[in-house]
Amino acid sequence: MKKTDLKGKVAIVSGASRGIGKAIAMALAAEGIAVMATARSGKQLTELVTDIEHSGGTGVYVVQDLADPGAPAMLVDRTLHTFGRLDILVNNAGCMVVKSIQETSLAEWEQVMAINARAPFLLSQAACPHMAAVGGGTIIQIVSVAGVTSYPDQGAYTAAKHALMGFSKVLAQEVQKDQIRVHTILPGGVDTDMIGQVRPDLTPSELISPADIAEVVIFLLTHRSCAVIDSVRMRRAVSDPWF
Ligand SMILES: NC(=O)c1ccc[n+]([C@@H]2O[C@H](COP(=O)([O-])OP(=O)(O)OC[C@H]3O[C@@H](n4cnc5c(N)ncnc54)[C@H](OP(=O)(O)O)[C@@H]3O)[C@@H](O)[C@H]2O)c1
Repeated sequence: MKKTDLKGKVAIVSGASRGIGKAIAMALAAEGIAVMATARSGKQLTELVTDIEHSGGTGVYVVQDLADPGAPAMLVDRTLHTFGRLDILVNNAGCMVVKSIQETSLAEWEQVMAINARAPFLLSQAACPHMAAVGGGTIIQIVSVAGVTSYPDQGAYTAAKHALMGFSKVLAQEVQKDQIRVHTILPGGVDTDMIGQVRPDLTPSELISPADIAEVVIFLLTHRSCAVIDSVRMRRAVSDPWF
């Protein structure tokens, strides 16, 4: 398969302050992609951009709360103003509430839906015309196995990730004509702050590493031939196959 050169491309990575998003942002920058990173934590984003620059890459950040419905369009505008184009969108920001459905408040439900499902919708909507304008692009949705399975005490999160999956399937159909590809990645437990909330019993050696996810992202971006991988499901080596 012929490998696509990513040098000179421009990417937005949401939730880039730590965990999976940070690993993806670093990996994209190492490929010569200019990265627009976003999250709420300015301190962690400053550290990310410093790390990118020390490795010879290009990175800029914008501090944003994606709970604000105006944030996605503003982020796309800033990216175009800063880099002049947009090729790749990684919808990675996510949050979780670990409570039974009975205990989940309306505010918690709405926050989980806003960050995991609504923000990717708004970011994709704002990004696609600009990707079409440069002849195509790629949207990568960091979903979860919770996008196709269910776990007790993760009602809002599971609903949001199922919504993200459904939205991504329709988006892929609608933007195919513009040479925009939409990929979903569905990991099991990854070694980040988030998994500590849900499975504090698991040790890092039993978890997927953020770098493993970043490698898959780079594979999807560089192997852009006639064969398209719509969705990648990744499980921990010790968890049950096909669960
Ligand atoms: N860890 C896992 O086991 C696992 C498994 C499957 C899928 N995932 C998915 O992978 C993605 C990344 O998760 P992670 O494990 O890396 O978790 P994490 O370490 O908790 O990171 C979450 C990221 O999302 C950002 N974020 C959260 N709320 C935000 C808001 N209101 N506005 C803007 N940014 C916000 C956070 O930045 P700030 O706090 O600085 O805003 C942070 O950068 C999520 O979509 C998650 O659902 C994780």
